[in-house]
Amino acid sequence: MEPTKTPHKKIHNGTVVSNQRIRGSYRRITLELDTDGGSAFGNIQPGQFAQFDLSQTALPADEDIAEQMRDASKRLILLRRPFSFSNVTQKGDGGVLLEVLYCVVGPATVRMSGLRQGRQVSILGPLGNGFHVPEGIKRAILVAGGMGAPPMIHLAGFLKSRYPQIELMVMAGARSFDDFPFTARKADNGEIAIEEFEAIGSPCRVATDDGSAGFKGFVSVMMERWLGENQKFRDDSVIFACGPEAMLAATADVAKRFNIPCQVSMERMMACGIGLCQSCAVEHKSGREGEYKLCCKDGPVFDAEKVKFLRHPDDGQV
Ligand SMILES: Cc1cc2nc3c(=O)[nH]c(=O)nc-3n(C[C@H](O)[C@H](O)[C@H](O)COP(=O)(O)OP(=O)(O)OC[C@H]3O[C@@H](n4cnc5c(N)ncnc54)[C@H](O)[C@@H]3O)c2cc1C
Ligand code: FES
Repeated sequence: MEPTKTPHKKIHNGTVVSNQRIRGSYRRITLELDTDGGSAFGNIQPGQFAQFDLSQTALPADEDIAEQMRDASKRLILLRRPFSFSNVTQKGDGGVLLEVLYCVVGPATVRMSGLRQGRQVSILGPLGNGFHVPEGIKRAILVAGGMGAPPMIHLAGFLKSRYPQIELMVMAGARSFDDFPFTARKADNGEIAIEEFEAIGSPCRVATDDGSAGFKGFVSVMMERWLGENQKFRDDSVIFACGPEAMLAATADVAKRFNIPCQVSMERMMACGIGLCQSCAVEHKSGREGEYKLCCKDGPVFDAEKVKFLRHPDDGQV
C-alpha cells in the first residue's frame, strides 16, 4: 500500500467523550467528531497526527496539577500541539472516535488533562504521512519506545483488522515498569501483560532498562536477540518503530543487519504542523550536504535507511 497523502486537512471540533488517567502521568482522552470529521479521520494511516489547540482550555484546579508541573502549567500557549492517535473508530452514524494516549509534560497537556466530558477541542488535521504496509509482507514487528506507544497501538489494531494474514510481534521498551504508557500489569510469575495489545490479540514482549519488567536492557537489543532466534521473522517482514530518536537509530541498525525494511516515526518540535515554518527538519542521507525533509509534511514516518539520526545509538536509548 502506498503512503497516504493528507486528505481533507482542516480544522474540526472534537467533543470530549472521556478523559482518564491510565497510570502515573499517562492519560487517555477520547474525542468524538461529526460526519465531516469522520470522512477526514476515519481512514487515516497509523502515525498520522493532528494539531490540537489548547490555548483557550482552562487550567485544572491547582490541587489537580502535579506539584512539579504547577509553575510550568501557567505558561501561555501560543501554538497548537501535535498528537497522534492510539485508536480511531468509525461510528455507525458517519462520525468518528479519536483516542489519544498522552503524557502530562507541560502547559498544553496539563490543560488537556482537565478537559471534562462534553468540552470541545479544536484540532487541525489529519496531518503528515503515516506507516505504510509494503506489498507482500507476511510479518510485522512493531517497536514502541516510551511515549512512542500511541501510534503502535493504532497500527496493531489497523493491521489486525485490515491485514489479518500478517503475523504481528510487538516489542515495547521503557526505562522501567512504571514508565510504560500502557495499561500494564505484572503477573505473579513476573510476566507483563499489556492490555492494549492483549485486546487486539497481538503478542507483546517487553524490555526495561532497569530490569523491573521483562528483558533487562534496550528494546533494540531484545529485538536483535529475538530475531537471532526467530529465523522466519527475518523474511518477508517489516519493522515499524516509534519512540526516542536514539532507540529509532538502534532499531534501524538492527533492521539493516538483518536486512529487514524499517519505517520510523520521528518527533520534532512543531510550530505550524503544515509545512510552512520549516521548524521540524529531519536530516536525510544524501550525496549532497544537508538534505532535509519536514517531519510534519513529509513525515513523521520515514524510511529508516534514509534518515540521518541526530543521536548515536550508543548515546542512551530505551
Ligand atoms: C507527530 C507527533 C506526534 C505526537 N504524539 C503524541 C502522543 O500521541 N502523545 C503524547 O503524549 N505526545 C505526543 N507528541 C508530543 C506532544 O506533542 C508534546 O508532548 C506536547 O506538545 C507537549 O506540550 P506541553 O505544552 O504540554 O509541553 P511543552 O512545555 O511544550 O513540552 C514539555 C517538554 O517536552 C518536550 N517536547 C515537547 N514537544 C516535543 C516534541 N515534539 N519532540 C521532542 N520533545 C518535545 C519539550 O522540549 C519540553 O521539554 C507528539 C509529537 C509529535 C511531533
Ligand atoms: S512544523 Fe512548520 S514546517 Fe513543520
